[in-house]
Amino acid sequence: MSLVLFRERDGRVARVVLDRPELRNAFDEDLIATLTETFLRLAKESGVRAIVLEGRGKAFCAGADLSWMKKMAGYTLEENLADAERLAAMFEAIDSCPRPVVARIQGAALGGGTGLAAVSDIVVAEEGTLFGTTEVRLGIVPAVISPYLVRKIGESAARYWFTTGERFDAQAAARVGLVHTVVPMGSLDAEIERLLDAFLSGGPEAVAEAKRLATSASARAAATSSIAARRVSAEGQEGLRAFLEKRKPVW
Ligand code: COA
Repeated sequence: MSLVLFRERDGRVARVVLDRPELRNAFDEDLIATLTETFLRLAKESGVRAIVLEGRGKAFCAGADLSWMKKMAGYTLEENLADAERLAAMFEAIDSCPRPVVARIQGAALGGGTGLAAVSDIVVAEEGTLFGTTEVRLGIVPAVISPYLVRKIGESAARYWFTTGERFDAQAAARVGLVHTVVPMGSLDAEIERLLDAFLSGGPEAVAEAKRLATSASARAAATSSIAARRVSAEGQEGLRAFLEKRKPVW
């Protein structure tokens, strides 16, 4: 099994761990299928309020498994298209997950590993981590991840990194908005726990709705109907009442 799922904080936090450390957590068809299925399943579990995505060992994720990619030359165009669709479905499952997803990144996040950062809501990276869309150096392109990356880092940075294939460090990734927080070596967990406290302090339905508003261009109509529904909801009423009664909300 190349992926492990842990439950923490009474099941309210799911920790999804890529577990192919000997290959720097590169994903092949098995890992793609398991990661997709795991996120689709977690999306339906109402008790899960936050998800941490991480990779075991020296690197977060070295992207696509290059042996698997190479092997695809022996497959038909239809088979290659179906395979690319499965890869796209993996990124989409993470991107559209209703719960906040935090990526905990150390070592390297290259190719599809940078793509995983792009579809996570919050990215915390250890100093010295290398990012990069290195595909052109291999004669391929950052195709499936491109919409998510362009959305996150903007066209200017995407033109630069996609075409040069240069690796860039966590500070550079933070400057273009791919990384939210760069932490010193050994400090990833403290920052992740702080973020989990924050997610669990929010109303669960409100956090999911807030993520939806942040991800879609929140048209005025959607925004007004959203707050109108939230403030009369049981959760909204409890949060407002708790504030006024100077107590912690019960959720
Ligand atoms: N696919 C398949 N195998 C990979 C891989 C990938 N994307 N990335 C690393 N590996 C393998 C290496 O071939 C090596 O295998 P070996 O032990 O049989 O020789 C093993 O993982 C460890 O890699 P190594 O390069 O020795 O580790 P490192 O810690 O020094 O460096 C990386 C880690 C991630 C910086 C480096 O492996 C790397 O640059 N990988 C390629 C990443 C890439 O270009 N991804 C884009 C994919 S589109």
